[in-house]
Amino acid sequence: MNINFTYLPGDGIGPEIGAASIDVLQAVAQKFSHTLDIEQHLIGGAAIDQGAKPLPQQTLASAKRTGAVLLGAVGGPQWDHLQGAARPELGGLLALRQKLGLYANIRPAKPYPSLMAASPLKRSYLEGVDFVIVRELTGGIYFGEKGRDENGAFDQCRYTKHEVERIAHRAFRLAQTRRKKLTSVDKANVLETSRLWREVVSRVATNYPDVSLEHTLVDAMAMHMLSRGKDFDVILTENMFGDILTDEAAMLCGSLGVIPSASLGENTSGLYEPIHGSAPDIAGQNKANPVAMILSAAWMLRASFGLQAEAEAIEAAVAAALSAGKISADLGGDCSTSELGNWVADYVRS
Ligand code: IPM
Ligand code: MG
Repeated sequence: MNINFTYLPGDGIGPEIGAASIDVLQAVAQKFSHTLDIEQHLIGGAAIDQGAKPLPQQTLASAKRTGAVLLGAVGGPQWDHLQGAARPELGGLLALRQKLGLYANIRPAKPYPSLMAASPLKRSYLEGVDFVIVRELTGGIYFGEKGRDENGAFDQCRYTKHEVERIAHRAFRLAQTRRKKLTSVDKANVLETSRLWREVVSRVATNYPDVSLEHTLVDAMAMHMLSRGKDFDVILTENMFGDILTDEAAMLCGSLGVIPSASLGENTSGLYEPIHGSAPDIAGQNKANPVAMILSAAWMLRASFGLQAEAEAIEAAVAAALSAGKISADLGGDCSTSELGNWVADYVRS
């Protein structure tokens, strides 16, 4: 098969972890007799530095054409002075998510046994943890009107019933394929958008009598995730709460550097990216953890190209690398980005 996708390395550590993931994809292509047809484009600060907008027209056109996007990370201190849509995050990544209609962001948390010692939490809190966070990705405070006046600033948070409905259906359908338990997270004791969220999710639940539903406030959830993470199966939440809770969930897995994500919409397009950012403090040092990026590439093969065995080969190789002690600096090891990438690629080929 010809695996035609859009590759957006982006900023900071993006190009380094991206290169590792492309090495691994090349190994998969060789092993399973596929061809890679990579359309590499600019996004974020890298695009700005070339005199383009954070989401150049060619980048968006390629993403729409291929329908499969593998992205590293965007942003960094050199673009911090920029405002609004001129910023790499707002004008690049958020615009891409929105223009492709990718409202469902799926982020799994299942600690690798070989990394449990690297988590700041005791092993007993990690064993049995296996949940997926379904984060609404194209609504809420991220996309509401923003502004400033001489006295202050504001960010509006809005959700339509339709936006809540479609993400709720996604989450319930996912729960049906798992342990049939859905935890919806909101702040319904304070926020009107959360009250709507709770109403709509409860209504959608009537279509899925086989899935049990509980509602939890986000502050309590932040605690429960650490104290009894193993109780959760599918966690459904709005955009900003999902951003925060997924970083927290990463600590159950040892590091932000090991969690991939898929952002999906109603059509077949998919954007696959690590949940972490561009880590400018370690960029260019060949020490970033490429695991989340490599796993995102595996997810792309599975979800956008239907290549199940190929995705599993990558996932098995990553697990083998971690078991073999190929551990990067974020997890207390000294394996470099390229060494880890090469190890995984060699394992896939063997
Ligand atoms: C994430 C990131 C992004 C987000 C940033 C880079 C805009 O933190 O994907 O979690 O907030 O969505
Ligand atoms: Mg985040």
